[in-house]
Amino acid sequence: MKAMAQRTWKAGERLELVELPTPEPRKGEVRVGVQAIGVNPVDWKMRSYGPLRLAARLLGPKPPVVVGVDFAGVVDAVGPGVVGFSPGDRVVGGTDFSRGQRGSYADTVVVREDQLWPVPDSVDIAVAAALPVSGVTARMAVVDLGRIRRERPGDRRVLVLGASGAVGQLALQIAKLEGAFVAGVCSAKNADLVVGLGADAVLDYGRGDALVQARAHAPFHLVIDCVGSYSGAGCRALLSSRGRHIMVAGDDPAAVAQMLVAPSRSRGILGRPTGRRLEPLVAAVADRSLQVAIARTLPLTAAEEAHRLSRSGRMTGKLILLP
Ligand SMILES: NC(=O)c1ccc[n+]([C@@H]2O[C@H](COP(=O)([O-])OP(=O)(O)OC[C@H]3O[C@@H](n4cnc5c(N)ncnc54)[C@H](OP(=O)(O)O)[C@@H]3O)[C@@H](O)[C@H]2O)c1
Repeated sequence: MKAMAQRTWKAGERLELVELPTPEPRKGEVRVGVQAIGVNPVDWKMRSYGPLRLAARLLGPKPPVVVGVDFAGVVDAVGPGVVGFSPGDRVVGGTDFSRGQRGSYADTVVVREDQLWPVPDSVDIAVAAALPVSGVTARMAVVDLGRIRRERPGDRRVLVLGASGAVGQLALQIAKLEGAFVAGVCSAKNADLVVGLGADAVLDYGRGDALVQARAHAPFHLVIDCVGSYSGAGCRALLSSRGRHIMVAGDDPAAVAQMLVAPSRSRGILGRPTGRRLEPLVAAVADRSLQVAIARTLPLTAAEEAHRLSRSGRMTGKLILLP
């Protein structure tokens, strides 16, 4: 199999195309021929810093280091005991370093059955590949930790910081689907995009402190920070008495420390994709209630270029790599 990998864990080393032995799926495992890979900021962050780099170094396979989590493709082999998938099935999923698996920047991945969900024929495989980390994180932030659910009575006011980014766009739409009033923070150039996704109010961070502007719409039941540079205390000051502040972003040492010692109203999140977590996202894309923006599609061999674009912090949709 082919993969884009670093030969070692050394920070700054380039990704290069490597040939690796094609793994056979063991008990409970499924081998997938990858057709599209979603790029996430964690893919480039873990090459040089961050808590997931440490976890992957401790728990992941030995180098070469294949980064990446998101993938979609077609099952090409199943191990003993697999009951839910057969060769030929279209699937989406996320690799998991903590299970000793290589990343998804490859033409082949092997994962356990519970890491996959079927993709209906009506859903484009590149759109499916855009969902795992961004979609699961957005849904966990809004529905699971944020407790914004249509059937739940009470306050449903949500503030999304970074509403034009991959996670922010999905969080905004999921909150709208759950019946919330949503204010989105973005720059002026992305205001139309954020309105188009259903935001009830748009706050331009270029016009002054967005958290001060947000006071006009407070109190919020949920403030989701998808940027990482907003003050935790400032976010909590906007909350209703039972409100929550969810920290999606933030991986410099100060932000990690804030996550570890955060008051109970603030929660860090790890959007680890599983089949069950992907199920409602795939369904929402299939019934067209959730839109996924793809900013650019590049060949897998252009992974360095994709990381350069993602690092810019200016994307308004997903970058997709094609093996
Ligand atoms: N905890 C987890 O499990 C988890 C999962 C996924 C992602 N993350 C983290 O969450 C962050 C976002 O990920 P992503 O994939 O959504 O990134 P992304 O798509 O690259 O986000 C880029 C967007 O952020 C906006 N932005 C930048 N600075 C901003 C500011 N000060 N205020 C408002 N918007 C701003 C940019 O808009 P402008 O160009 O207009 O500024 C751009 O549209 C990353 O740090 C990522 O590592 C964490």
